[in-house]
Amino acid sequence: MNRILVTGGTGFIGSHTVVELIKAGYEIDILDNLYNSKYAALDKITQLTGHRPTFFMADLCDAAALERIFAKNHYDLVVHFAGLKAVAESVAEPLKYYDNNVVGTINLLKCMQKYGVKRIVFSSSATVYGQQPTARNQETMVTGVNLTNPYGETKHVIEEILKDVVDSDPEFSATILRYFNPVGNHPSGLLGEDPNDIPNNLMPIIMKVASGELSELKVYGADYPTRDGSGIRDYIHVVDLARGHVSAIFHMRPGVNIYNLGTGKGTSVFEMIAAFEQASGRKLPVKVVERRPGDLPEIYADPSKAEQELNWRANLTIADAMRDTLTYLNNRPKPLLAMLGRYTLNLNSTTSPSRMM
Ligand code: NAD
Ligand code: UFG
Repeated sequence: MNRILVTGGTGFIGSHTVVELIKAGYEIDILDNLYNSKYAALDKITQLTGHRPTFFMADLCDAAALERIFAKNHYDLVVHFAGLKAVAESVAEPLKYYDNNVVGTINLLKCMQKYGVKRIVFSSSATVYGQQPTARNQETMVTGVNLTNPYGETKHVIEEILKDVVDSDPEFSATILRYFNPVGNHPSGLLGEDPNDIPNNLMPIIMKVASGELSELKVYGADYPTRDGSGIRDYIHVVDLARGHVSAIFHMRPGVNIYNLGTGKGTSVFEMIAAFEQASGRKLPVKVVERRPGDLPEIYADPSKAEQELNWRANLTIADAMRDTLTYLNNRPKPLLAMLGRYTLNLNSTTSPSRMM
């Protein structure tokens, strides 16, 4: 199994995974429509690995374009990241999300079937768990109940489609990876999260506040039944997440197999802010506001299945993620950052140099 098509491979998680897959010896082609990523990611991947993946600028909703790619190229496996992921936008524009994520995946699966590509690794999300009786989510829990947004529904529906496809063809295998909250970026500072739109997620917002693009960080609720009142999530360094894909491919089994990719530890919003301040040596402007509708108090992964079956576990820390985020912020060519002065790493930071790559 050597040649892999990576959909969404210029995006945040996709680009980091492509780097790890190339380092592991795979030959990579990327398909992306650059809706939420930049062509420059290819240059960065090339710089980091010495290999330039073949790039197809194509939309998964363009069935004819997909057909042309599959007709000319044989793949052993598809890693499927491409999708829209903005929760609030999915509430405002549900059809855009069902169309892009679900129809796009169906088009991809049809081509895979037609051209005999029998393995897929799919980017799902912890969002499919919804609210569970316990904060620690296990793969065996019932999913898809009372999901609060169309984005989450698309992930659940795609998981169900994959199960049906595998049921219909015993030679077809699907590995479903449920990501918790990816943060950080490549330690070189070359690759990172650089959304084309206004972000909703905590870490890209912290970055925008740090760079002066946003005036303050709104903490959505300090009255949750958690240790400090703010929401608790399982933040996983994107490089650990990327390596989880390499392990998932290496240990791929027949049928449908589902794994949580998370650290197993929860961190609160206030703890994330403190970690950023510790790494940078600067205070972030913060304001506590009302809870964000649909947010859960606390959710984190039970990662033991991935540890046992994929021989993978997350090794990097929140401090590592903050250090790498600062490196990335300082590397970005943003005039505003230059005006504000570059962030420096706080020498008192707890980041361990041994974790540097
Ligand atoms: P991203 O937006 O950085 O990357 C997604 C990529 O897919 C982008 O490069 C985008 O241009 C491309 N794309 C979108 N629709 C496409 C289409 N129709 N055709 C071709 N390309 C298309 O997002 P990411 O954070 O790297 O997320 C990757 C995957 O992981 C997504 O499926 C997302 O839902 C899932 N996920 C992300 C998170 C998170 O917090 N980042 C959490 C759980 C799951
Ligand atoms: N938060 C703030 N202020 C912000 C943004 C977020 O206080 O400006 C808080 C949230 O209330 C929450 C925590 O930070 O307590 C994390 O919020 P994110 O939006 O970063 O992440 P979520 O856990 O809400 O959701 C994310 C993705 C989903 C994915 C889910 C998986 O957005 O797509 O992780 O667990 F499904």
